Amino acid sequence: MDLAFDRRHIWHPYTSTLTPLTCYPVSSAQGVMLQLENGEQLIDGMSSWWSAIHGYNHPHLNAAAHSQIDKMSHVMFGGITHDPAINLCKKLLSFAPDNLQHVFLADSGSVAVEVSLKMALQYWHAKGEVRPKFLTLRDGYHGDTFAAMSVTDPDNSMHSLYKGFLPQHIFAASPKTGFWQEWDESDLDNFRTQLSENHCEIAAVILEPIVQGAGGMRIYHPKFLKGVRELCDEFGVLLILDEIATGFGRTGKMFACEHADIKPDILCVGKALTSGYMTLSATLASSEVADTVCGGEAGCFMHGPTFMANPLACAVATASMELLEQNEWQQQTKQIEQLFSELLPKLKQHELVADVRWLGAIGVVETTTPVNMEAIQALFVEQGVWIRPFGKLIYMMPPFISEPQHIQKLVDAVECALNSEECFSS
Ligand SMILES: Cc1ncc(COP(=O)(O)O)c(C=O)c1O
Repeated sequence: MDLAFDRRHIWHPYTSTLTPLTCYPVSSAQGVMLQLENGEQLIDGMSSWWSAIHGYNHPHLNAAAHSQIDKMSHVMFGGITHDPAINLCKKLLSFAPDNLQHVFLADSGSVAVEVSLKMALQYWHAKGEVRPKFLTLRDGYHGDTFAAMSVTDPDNSMHSLYKGFLPQHIFAASPKTGFWQEWDESDLDNFRTQLSENHCEIAAVILEPIVQGAGGMRIYHPKFLKGVRELCDEFGVLLILDEIATGFGRTGKMFACEHADIKPDILCVGKALTSGYMTLSATLASSEVADTVCGGEAGCFMHGPTFMANPLACAVATASMELLEQNEWQQQTKQIEQLFSELLPKLKQHELVADVRWLGAIGVVETTTPVNMEAIQALFVEQGVWIRPFGKLIYMMPPFISEPQHIQKLVDAVECALNSEECFSS
């Protein structure tokens, strides 16, 4: 692989052209293993950022891609429809909360969030109300496009640079009570205050249910989410749930909102939708939202990406839904959760560990000192695993098909990193 070319000319996520960090050349992937060009195998602890839930090179997903590409890989969606989209949307609606009846297919998680915000704005516009604000939580993350950044934590994110360019929204304190802790009613106080003081100008609340991902890997109490739904109803504000990271079983439920037994007005999904094969996302809306939007001045929802409902991606996503329908994910995520609950507390004793947390197929070790990326990445590769931390967060969200020995190896590698001074020196 021409790594010198890569270093010189190709931007990777959040990297510098001046001081590019080492990139490891992957030549193939199979099941839970990533194969490096030199033949070394790494156990994947990231599911390629939450997406490859069924593992890599899955025969059922491969077959769906092969079969679809021989028919057509893409066709425009304006004025045309096709089976891959119809089949996928049928399955999506059968999995999603039953009040959601309309699906808008888009290309990435960030775009699904943009779409959800536009839907909420058009909804109030159609009702003749000016509601230009969104209420969200601190420590949240919703993507890298501008509107998505504007509802991402303004301080702890990588986005504080763009502050002057972004619309100003309202941020409530993030929940403090962890998923497994005793619920503290006062957790909702700030959210309630913000909503009651500003509800007349708030189009929607947008948040990540139960797990705040890239903004801090925080796993919070379902009663917070339940309270949010009740308050949205009380103050007549729409609720958008961003399940782009949590959707499709990752937290041990098909959708994280099921932990709180609530339904959103608008739901965003992406990432694991195609099990990481291709980029595809969806924004689902209730009939009340969709019909109000379309009854407004524009007479339609004003969005239509070129690659909307890409048939190849839809066919693979349908195949991924078929795998989920076999219901093995429930046992698989339960087993991973059990292993994290046994293995992670042992790391808590370490002086560099501030906290450990887990839920479903997610395990997090928060450290007291930021990691040295170059050093920790090299150590993980040496240990035969692929884990990519950021800041003080070493987190794992392995493919659901991971076996106990894979999880053990991931946690052992984290322990090894904690014991290596290099991994925490600046
Ligand atoms: C909760 C959440 N929302 C939105 C996004 C953005 O998705 P994408 O990177 O596909 O644009 C992410 C990505 O990490 C996410 O975790």
